Amino acid sequence: MSKPLSIGVAGLGTVGAGVLKLLAENGDIVAARAGRPVTVGAVSARTKGRDRGVALDGLRWHDDPVALAADPGVDVVVELIGGSDGPARALVEAALAAGKPVVTANKALLAVHGAAIAEMAEARGVPLAFEAAVAGGIPAIKGLREGLAANRLKRVAGILNGTCNYILTTMREQGREFGDVLEEAQALGYAEADPSFDIDGVDAAHKLAILAALAFGRPVDFGAVHVEGIREVTAMDIAFAGELGYRIKLLGIAGRDEAGISARVHPCMVPVAAPIARVDGVFNAVVAEGDFVGRVMLEGRGAGAGPTASAVVADLIDIARGRHTPVWGGALDAAPAVAMERHRGAYYLRLMVLDRPGVIADVTGILRDQAISLESMLQRGRAPGEAVPVVLTTHDCEEAAMRAALDRIAGLDAVLEKPALIRIEAL
Ligand SMILES: NC(=O)c1ccc[n+]([C@@H]2O[C@H](COP(=O)([O-])OP(=O)(O)OC[C@H]3O[C@@H](n4cnc5c(N)ncnc54)[C@H](OP(=O)(O)O)[C@@H]3O)[C@@H](O)[C@H]2O)c1
Repeated sequence: MSKPLSIGVAGLGTVGAGVLKLLAENGDIVAARAGRPVTVGAVSARTKGRDRGVALDGLRWHDDPVALAADPGVDVVVELIGGSDGPARALVEAALAAGKPVVTANKALLAVHGAAIAEMAEARGVPLAFEAAVAGGIPAIKGLREGLAANRLKRVAGILNGTCNYILTTMREQGREFGDVLEEAQALGYAEADPSFDIDGVDAAHKLAILAALAFGRPVDFGAVHVEGIREVTAMDIAFAGELGYRIKLLGIAGRDEAGISARVHPCMVPVAAPIARVDGVFNAVVAEGDFVGRVMLEGRGAGAGPTASAVVADLIDIARGRHTPVWGGALDAAPAVAMERHRGAYYLRLMVLDRPGVIADVTGILRDQAISLESMLQRGRAPGEAVPVVLTTHDCEEAAMRAALDRIAGLDAVLEKPALIRIEAL
């Protein structure tokens, strides 16, 4: 067997320790598939003495992770620190500058600086691999860039954040409100103490920006992603969605059409019968639509030590074998980004209105003025003089028209709360 591939691992937290554990337990099959052993030569983390549940004896320790790039005994740098800047970025740039292949799980870094980092890697012909950065253990990047390489992709979408999917699933199954379920998820360790990155859709948007770049062959453009989270989803809307034959999921959706490339993350109503509607709990899914293959869906665990380590080590096996795919999969697409105002689709609208004559006529009049046609309307209960929910679903219309209508509807005297708006997606 040829010379071992020696790796330097920066970050020994959930993922870093997971990688060391996987290499210790599955070293034999990794070596067989890589054509040579993959060994850990050096490591770096913040706190040297911490017990990480994995043996670090005999490994070189660097207090400064950037030193891994210059360590002559390190062939490949594995960046598992996290964060879009700071030591993670410094290490990745130093490694590429030194001509060392990089494996990273860092979606924040790639979403924000991916275009420049990829350019650096391509210019030097150095592998930059990041399977673990999108949807954890799901081989989404390999699937898109290699398995579907023969297709023009029209759309790539997915459930890209396990925390949000867990919260929405629990709200639906137990009829509970968002804040209550979030608190429980934090207590169980499914949500961070500061959950905003997850629940405001930023983490999903990081991953979508990477997927869109791969699917449509263009540099990562995180700024072009429209982002909404799940804070405003209520138990009432989840129940109405069920009555209408939908489930509410936080989806990332990137599409390519004549107008250009659109990328958006927001809560969506998807038909109960759609495969993605049944992806529940902490599971993630990635759906791709190609012109020859049709629709493909991959489902699996999007986070956790085991699934993420599985993706990191798959990248290491490719590098050990000398398999090197260009970062964005070939020629770049110069199509413009399409603004969210230009989005066309169907909408669910839920209003809390005073139960009195004429209110529905006012609402439907405003929708008519914006050329928005209704698909269905549902009003529950009679409570003269009190607030009742009214649910409307529309046929396809333009986002800008819907927003203009919503502003006027929210201003009606009889509309008592901020209207709830959820986009309906056929997937
Ligand atoms: N966790 C997941 O399920 C998952 C899934 C997909 C992708 N990712 C990505 O994987 C990366 C790592 O995530 P994680 O969950 O493993 O994070 P984590 O548990 O917080 O671990 C981070 C590690 O980085 C080390 N570190 C932090 N600052 C450092 C510095 N200045 N110098 C050296 N080491 C430093 C920490 O050292 P100490 O241990 O000494 O504090 C720790 O070992 C992130 O980019 C994350 O987005 C994670």
